[in-house]
Amino acid sequence: MKIHDISISYFTKLYKTACTRNRAVFSISQILLCINLIGILNMRFLLFSFFILVSLEVSANKLPLPLKDSDYRFVDENEAKLGQLLFYDPILSGNKEVACATCHHPSLGTGDGLSLSLGDGGKGLGINRIVDYENPPEQRVPRNAQPLFNLGAKQFKTLFHDGRVEVDLLRPSGLRTPLEEEMVEGFSSIISAQTMFPVLSADEMAGHYSENEISEAVRRGTLTGKGGAWDLISKRVQSIPEYSNFFINIYDHIKTAQDIKFTDISNAVAAFMEFEWRSDTSPFDDFLKGKQNLNISQEKGMELFYGKANCSSCHAGALFTDHQFHATGQPQVGPGKAARFQSHSRDLGRFRVTGNIKDKYAFRTPSLRNVELTGPWGHAGAYSKLEAFINAHLNPQLALYNYDKSNVTLTKYDANDWKIMDNATEVKAIADSITIKPIIVSDGEVMDILAFLGTLTDTKSQKGRLGIPETVPSGLKIPNPQR
Ligand code: HEC
Ligand code: HEC
Repeated sequence: MKIHDISISYFTKLYKTACTRNRAVFSISQILLCINLIGILNMRFLLFSFFILVSLEVSANKLPLPLKDSDYRFVDENEAKLGQLLFYDPILSGNKEVACATCHHPSLGTGDGLSLSLGDGGKGLGINRIVDYENPPEQRVPRNAQPLFNLGAKQFKTLFHDGRVEVDLLRPSGLRTPLEEEMVEGFSSIISAQTMFPVLSADEMAGHYSENEISEAVRRGTLTGKGGAWDLISKRVQSIPEYSNFFINIYDHIKTAQDIKFTDISNAVAAFMEFEWRSDTSPFDDFLKGKQNLNISQEKGMELFYGKANCSSCHAGALFTDHQFHATGQPQVGPGKAARFQSHSRDLGRFRVTGNIKDKYAFRTPSLRNVELTGPWGHAGAYSKLEAFINAHLNPQLALYNYDKSNVTLTKYDANDWKIMDNATEVKAIADSITIKPIIVSDGEVMDILAFLGTLTDTKSQKGRLGIPETVPSGLKIPNPQR
């Protein structure tokens, strides 16, 4: 089937069912169609309504338009090359052990292959990451490391599972973030602003109190200004000539090493992520451009995705996300996200940002680009097999109550990861919040959906455009599975 045929086949199907379907609410197009079918109106109206029908149904049908260059921000390749070094360099972390790539590695689908990451206090990569008992972590990172594909697309305006960093033009920095007025200005994009956060997080990169000058500054609450955490990180980068020369060559406003600010570092890292993992060359993209057909199972999966299974109502558009928040009843694993003054293991998701009751346990709809490669799935990585995730997602209440803990992939670490799932009241609270409706499909249909999701795997983007550097200017060890 070619792309043009999908609306037509849908149209034919609609014709067959328009007047017979026993549904309380007809779509406008169905009503128009039905009127036509009954033959009340003349040919001209039929044609007219056909056009309305096609435009309405194609948009409701939601098969996206192919992605084009103008959907992405422009990236300077040299800036990306500088960002590449910083992304793989543990120099940005308090104890100089954790790089962005520790949790976002291309060989692990730009994640870390774990349900929940171990940042500072861990050693090794992916499932081989172990606790460093000389410097044990305080806790696991409370959420699953997100994939970094297509973040250069202009449509990304909210970041993190709960959207706590988002574009907000009413604020001076142009952003709404947990730091509010502490947030400095000068970011090239929201992706750049995001980079300010992992370096401040004790569990991710900063390390723990009194272990290093950066974690101490974070604990004192000194982030901005001289001697603040960001300034201290910038000083480290300034002191390495290979970096400072690179910065001076690329940015007009940087004349000497001392001019390098953290916003420049984060702008370069953002340029790298945007350049490196743009993904618009999957088999599905070729299909959208009319260059390739899908096989029967993929095609059936696509019809389910955009039809009966209703996936596209949330996983919408060419990036497969509506950028909205939904409570889908994912099991909660790990330490959760309590505020400083609280002690619980809940993760209330979007509610933590908005305080709005209807946002309880709601998380951002993830993009499904390269989804086969980005497991474990869910905000807490509760499922390590995509098939199991989809089955649960189709019937979330039932799945939540029958959740099997062996679905996670966690490194050995002495922590009680099941405080929520072992507590019936907590589980019920998650279950009661679910807004996604159960959908019944056969096992064969689940396989077809999986086959369709497979068409989003873009091996070219997985490898990245610049790849992993051989060495980084600090001389520190690059996180790599082979080394
Ligand atoms: C210890 C693991 C860890 C490290 C190190 C880490 N991250 Fe992440 N990253 C995560 C986790 C976990 C999330 C999801 C956090 C959340 O939603 O609360 C995330 C989210 C993100 C996102 C948001 C993606 C989206 O779709 O919203 C970006 C971008 C990102 N990280 C980039 C970076 C960069 C750049 C660095 C280095 C400066 C970095 N990360 C270091 C674990 C890590
Ligand atoms: C009501 C909106 C909604 C619908 C409908 C929906 N999803 Fe989701 N989906 C989400 C949200 C929200 C998440 C993230 C949940 C979480 O992490 O807590 C998600 C997560 C996923 C993930 C995991 C991705 C990752 O990176 O962890 C996959 C795969 C997925 N959905 C596929 C599907 C498929 C296939 C369908 C149709 C059968 C579907 N979804 C229907 C909202 C929806």
